[in-house]
Amino acid sequence: MRRYFIKTFGCQMNVNDSEILAGILEDNGYALAEVPQKADIILVNTCSIRQKAEDRAYTFLRELKKLKKTNPDLIIGICGCVPQREKENIVKQLPFVDLVMGPQCVDDFSNILQEIEPNKETQFYIEEKGRPRKIHPTKRAKSPRAYINIMYGCNNYCSYCIVPYVRGREVFRPSKDIMEEIKKLDKSIHKEVILLGQNVNSWSEGDKTFSDLLREVHKAPGVEWISFMTSHPKDMTDEIIETVAKLPKLNNHIHLPVQSGSTKIMKAMNRKYDRDYYLKLIEKIYKKIPEATVTSDIIVGFPGETGKDFKDSLSMIRQANFDSVITAAYSIRPGTKAAAMKGQIETSVKKERLQKIMQVVQDVAYQKNQKLVGKTMDLLVEGPAQKGKLSGRTRGSKIVYFDGSKNLICQIIPMKITSAKSWVLEGQRT
Ligand code: 5AD
Ligand code: SF4
Repeated sequence: MRRYFIKTFGCQMNVNDSEILAGILEDNGYALAEVPQKADIILVNTCSIRQKAEDRAYTFLRELKKLKKTNPDLIIGICGCVPQREKENIVKQLPFVDLVMGPQCVDDFSNILQEIEPNKETQFYIEEKGRPRKIHPTKRAKSPRAYINIMYGCNNYCSYCIVPYVRGREVFRPSKDIMEEIKKLDKSIHKEVILLGQNVNSWSEGDKTFSDLLREVHKAPGVEWISFMTSHPKDMTDEIIETVAKLPKLNNHIHLPVQSGSTKIMKAMNRKYDRDYYLKLIEKIYKKIPEATVTSDIIVGFPGETGKDFKDSLSMIRQANFDSVITAAYSIRPGTKAAAMKGQIETSVKKERLQKIMQVVQDVAYQKNQKLVGKTMDLLVEGPAQKGKLSGRTRGSKIVYFDGSKNLICQIIPMKITSAKSWVLEGQRT
């Protein structure tokens, strides 16, 4: 039997695309190889959000070259955002690659699979225009959380970001397909549906809004928890906040990237809001959903970021009382507006700021988590953790370790929180 191996870098969209690619491979008679050495086809699903992410993918791919010596018929494919950005140039760096496929072509993978052969010229499948994925056989992880993509691409053109260039303009999946895919989920495993997109809360279909979609998903039989990410602050309407507050299956975790705490930098980033708007939005969220977990993304060292702008980002973390923030040093993405901006910040300064901001994020998270100690909350059990413990997530997406038997995996159980650190809570079954 022919075997496949997929290595995934990057965001949940890539994770979901890899699940689709795996599903299509299995539908075509392939079986999973535990290690790349045992595979007949290896796909590397890449991310180009930052230079480091690209570098990691290149390093992984270069390592694969030697496998062709022991298995000359091995097919190596690179997919995801890096080939979409690099196009034909990719073979200058990776001449041994057989297949180069952009994210827009995942839908065609079943046909592509019939066309590719080892030891031929590199085959390219790159399309510029985005399109919503059809429904495919999907090999989902045995996780209680199932990713369902509802939209692809992005129209926002934040000045630092490569996504609109590699994922194309926004396209929304029809609600019919979304509901059909949710219906097909094995509900004995998948208790939580996570609606995915670069900009989920901009989803619409005719008169139907994202809130309407949330209400529709809420009615789907067997779905117990519902989450969504990532939301853009400019599209976070009162209606969405109220829908989250009102509907019992909707989780109280909102991921709302702010990117900077400084109005000046927000403007240069083309984020289309200012500090005041963002803080008012946060206030509204906590008012309507007092137990909300609010997480964010912040970039440090964007061109022109002064010490004062950076301090505004630090104070934003405390004022917004974020549960967690994914922080990153600004990485130049060729072709984006910010790449050509004056005032690029030195690497050493970016590193220093990153260290400082991570400390503040950790402090704020620690303080916030202490308030959960002694409370009892529902936990969706995910799997084994360190030291023989099990791990699960609260409705606010907090990780909890506890003692319990493996048959609790994929179940929702009440959990008393006994202690809390910044990133992990400990609990006891009640
Ligand atoms: N440099 C650093 N971080 C970036 N992000 C996007 N583009 C860049 C870049 N050029 C971050 C943003 C975004 C997250 C997915 O990645 O914070 O929200
Ligand atoms: Fe990138 Fe901005 Fe679109 Fe997010 S909203 S994907 S940061 S361009």
